[in-house]
Amino acid sequence: MGKGIGYGKTILFGEHFVVYGLPAVASAISDITTATVAKGEKGLELIDNRPAIEGYKTKKQGEITRGLDLIMKFLKIDLEKTPLKITLAGNLKCVSGVGASAALASSIARALNEEFSLGLDDDGINEVAYEGEKGSAGTPSGIDNTCSTYGGMLVFEKNLEGGPNKIDLLEVKEPIKIVLASTGITQETKEVVADVKAEKEKNSEEYGKIFAEYKDVFDEGLAALKEGHIEKLGELMDRNQELLRKINVSCDEIEKIISVAKENGALGAKLTGTGRGGLVICLAPDEETQERIAKAVEAAGFEATKTSLGKG
Ligand code: MEV
Repeated sequence: MGKGIGYGKTILFGEHFVVYGLPAVASAISDITTATVAKGEKGLELIDNRPAIEGYKTKKQGEITRGLDLIMKFLKIDLEKTPLKITLAGNLKCVSGVGASAALASSIARALNEEFSLGLDDDGINEVAYEGEKGSAGTPSGIDNTCSTYGGMLVFEKNLEGGPNKIDLLEVKEPIKIVLASTGITQETKEVVADVKAEKEKNSEEYGKIFAEYKDVFDEGLAALKEGHIEKLGELMDRNQELLRKINVSCDEIEKIISVAKENGALGAKLTGTGRGGLVICLAPDEETQERIAKAVEAAGFEATKTSLGKG
């Protein structure tokens, strides 16, 4: 039996912009998906015991099947000859924005590596997980699977020429306290990424300006992160959210969570991941405020999880 894990993730700066080769910052969270691979009876039997918000698994069924198919093809595993039973579990609650599909792909890649003694290192696992991600994101940047595979906090820049992506591991001075708040809405990454692409092509001048502004936000945000300047970091997360609004990937539920979080002391708050639903990342200056934000978000009818990023 082969076993593997994949981390959940959150994006601090750069979802969507990262698809076009701009740098982004993401961090793994400690919640994981686990996969076990064993010999099966016929074709592929998938048992999905992952916790999930209502409706997630039904909505994502097509993506999961596509992703698994791509992984098997990439690894040249013939399920007719080698039937498999894959079981998914772990404490990562599946919701849009948390990198659940990447954690699935990464954990399965690791489990297959063990089951078939493929001898893949982390870079090899990441390549397989990227194939799986294509099932969900169409033309993914690779940031989600990279985070799921390596863990930790990182700067990611997609190589648009097709060579290796730039991945720099980041260390922060102090762990960053956040609240991840859920809109409860499941989104299809592939669709939202395709919409942004179409709008970008139609309004190339306007989008050019937005993308240039994002690069400034990223540069300042990275410096604030490295210096541990938490207030500045919050301001820049807000500016990033402003740009995400402009490319039309926010929604009423995201905006509601942001205003509740800000009213209750969040230094900054933005959507994280695909957007138009999914999760909001809220930055807290201290534990007390983190607790207050989480309670207020829950009182407004949304789920909230407190966690911290970076080992310090
Ligand atoms: C999804 O977590 C992040 C996106 O930028 C898509 C991608 O990078 O592949 C929306």
